[in-house]
Amino acid sequence: MIVLLYLDLYNLQCKVRAGLKVTQYLFVGIRKLCYFCFMRNGIILLLSALLFASCASLSRYPGVGRTKRYTFEHAQVPETFDGFRIAFISDTHYPSKFKRKHLHSLVRALRDLRPDLLLLGGDYHEGCEYVEELFAELAEATPPYGIDAVLGNHDYARCTDEVRTAMKHHGIRLLEHRNDTIRKGENFIIVSGVRNPFDLKTNGISPTTELQEDDFVILLVHTPDYVEDVPVPHTDLALAGHTHGGQVSFLRLWTPRTGSKYGTRLLSGRRASSHGLPVIITNGLGTSHVPLRICAPSEIVVVTLKKAP
Ligand SMILES: [Fe+2]
Repeated sequence: MIVLLYLDLYNLQCKVRAGLKVTQYLFVGIRKLCYFCFMRNGIILLLSALLFASCASLSRYPGVGRTKRYTFEHAQVPETFDGFRIAFISDTHYPSKFKRKHLHSLVRALRDLRPDLLLLGGDYHEGCEYVEELFAELAEATPPYGIDAVLGNHDYARCTDEVRTAMKHHGIRLLEHRNDTIRKGENFIIVSGVRNPFDLKTNGISPTTELQEDDFVILLVHTPDYVEDVPVPHTDLALAGHTHGGQVSFLRLWTPRTGSKYGTRLLSGRRASSHGLPVIITNGLGTSHVPLRICAPSEIVVVTLKKAP
């Protein structure tokens, strides 16, 4: 009887111990699970924040995702050009995702920004019938130092004459391997425009070649690849479009189409060529292939020149 009672108590003790062990394991499991949840939620939160920071498009101008501002400081910026503001737009591909209401909104944004000079980077239209309307609107931006422009591959592929005629009609200066001198007071800067930068057989010598070393020169070219493909002597800053920032680009880790044979190196933003030349590449405004932009917002670029001490 006593032995049986002892065995029973022993079994009960074993069961309690086992129960405690199970509970302990459960607690450790739950704790580990919570830790995993916390880590997982933290990672999701961090990725979301990064994605938002990269993709955020907060603009009161429909069709213009953002205004991207740069200050460009250089010793050769003439004194009277200290603070001179240049707006740069490209790749309207009008109409695409960038439609008529967006064109009105773009001109409104440009007028509100009040730049001194407006530069256009090419790939303007999606059909000859839209050319006149597009340039008539853009000319309404009326910056005090006018508008300089180059053409893109789309403009050389079709409606080239229509584009040239419309630009001339609306007072837009087309720089096809030409240099435009912008004067302010007793100083000047030069905007140098490249003709079709994909035709290197014809345009393989940069229009900056004939300029002087102490000139302050901005090279306006449709594709950023040109500054890698061709020597661009005397250039201090290059402005380019064409890449659309990839149109779809996740943190620049995955960009299915870059539009540049140099991959994501010259995709968007302020970059440098392999020779150290500063290049600002805009995401542009419109779309091609698919009317879609993900994490590559449409934009107006504004560059403020600053004289380095
Ligand atoms: Fe292009």
